[in-house]
Amino acid sequence: MSTCGEILSNTNLKNDYFAVEFYAPETAASARAGQFVHVRIDDTRGDWILRRPFSICDTDPARGTVTVVYKVVGKGTAALSRLTPGHRCDVMGPLGNFFAPPDDAVPVAVCGGYGAAATFMLTRNPRKGLLLLGARSEADVILTEKYARAGFEVRVATNDGSEGVRGFVTGLIPPLLAERPHEKFCFCACGPHPMLMALAKLLRELGQEGQLSIDHRMCCGVGSCFACVVKVNDPSGPDGWRYARSCAEGPIFNLKDVYTGE
Ligand SMILES: Cc1cc2nc3c(=O)[nH]c(=O)nc-3n(C[C@H](O)[C@H](O)[C@H](O)COP(=O)(O)OP(=O)(O)OC[C@H]3O[C@@H](n4cnc5c(N)ncnc54)[C@H](O)[C@@H]3O)c2cc1C
Ligand code: FES
Repeated sequence: MSTCGEILSNTNLKNDYFAVEFYAPETAASARAGQFVHVRIDDTRGDWILRRPFSICDTDPARGTVTVVYKVVGKGTAALSRLTPGHRCDVMGPLGNFFAPPDDAVPVAVCGGYGAAATFMLTRNPRKGLLLLGARSEADVILTEKYARAGFEVRVATNDGSEGVRGFVTGLIPPLLAERPHEKFCFCACGPHPMLMALAKLLRELGQEGQLSIDHRMCCGVGSCFACVVKVNDPSGPDGWRYARSCAEGPIFNLKDVYTGE
C-alpha cells in the first residue's frame, strides 16, 4: 500500500471530466484492471475526513504513476479538480478485487460514463477486445481514443444519438453476438446501477459470461465498517441473498452473484 500521492498532473479531459496522475509507485507496481484507490483529497480540512474511491484507470510502473479519471459531481471532486502538481493527497491502494476474463474469451468492456476508467487496463490483455460505451450524450463520451490506441474496437451508444448509435449500451450486445456467433466473450462492466442491472438480466438471457463492478458509496474502503454493502445472490440465505461488502468482496462480482431483485 502506498501513501505517497503527490499530484504530477491534473488535466481537464473535456467538460466535467479530469485525469489526475499521482506518484504512487507501490500501487502502480501491482494494480490490476478494476481495482481502486481510496483518496483523502485534503488532509487539512476537518470536514473532509472521508476518502473518495476512484478506479485506477492506468499505471506506469516505470515512472511509479497511477492515473485516475474522474467526473466532478460534488465538493470532493470539485476540490480535486483545483489541485495543482506538487500537492500531495493520501492515496491508499490498490484496493478491491479485479476483472479476470478467462484467457479463451474476448474481453468486452461495457461501460457507462466514467465507468470506462475502471476497465481500461483490460487493454493490457494479450487478447484485444472491445469497448462498448454508453452515455447520455456526446458530452459524457470519454476515453474512446485511448482505448482505440490500445487496440480495442470502440462502439458508442448515446441516449440522444449525438454520438454513435441512439439508445442504451446494452443495445450494442445482440448485434455483436450476431456478427461473431462462434466467439466466446467475457463482458466486464462498470457504470450506473440501473445500467448494470439491465446488463445482468440481458447477459443471463443471452447465456453470456460477465463480471460487473458494483460501485457503492464507501467509508473505510477496506472491509471494516459495512458502509458499502450490496445484496448478492446466496442460495443458502433465507431469501436467497446476503449482504457483501463491495470494497472488500468486490467491487467486481461475477454475473451469477449479481442480485437483480428489488
Ligand atoms: C469503487 C469505486 C470506483 C469509482 N471510480 C470512479 C472513477 O473512476 N471516476 C469517478 O469520477 N468516480 C468514481 N467513483 C465515484 C466517486 O467515488 C464519487 O463520484 C466521489 O466520491 C464523489 O465525491 P464528491 O465529494 O465530489 O461528491 P459528494 O459531494 O460526496 O456527492 C455528490 C454526488 O455524487 C454522488 N456520489 C457520491 N459517491 C458516489 C458513488 N460512489 N457512486 C455514485 N454516486 C456517488 C452523491 O450521491 C451525490 O449525488 C467510484 C466509486 C467507487 C465506489
Ligand atoms: S467501505 Fe467500509 S466495509 Fe466497505
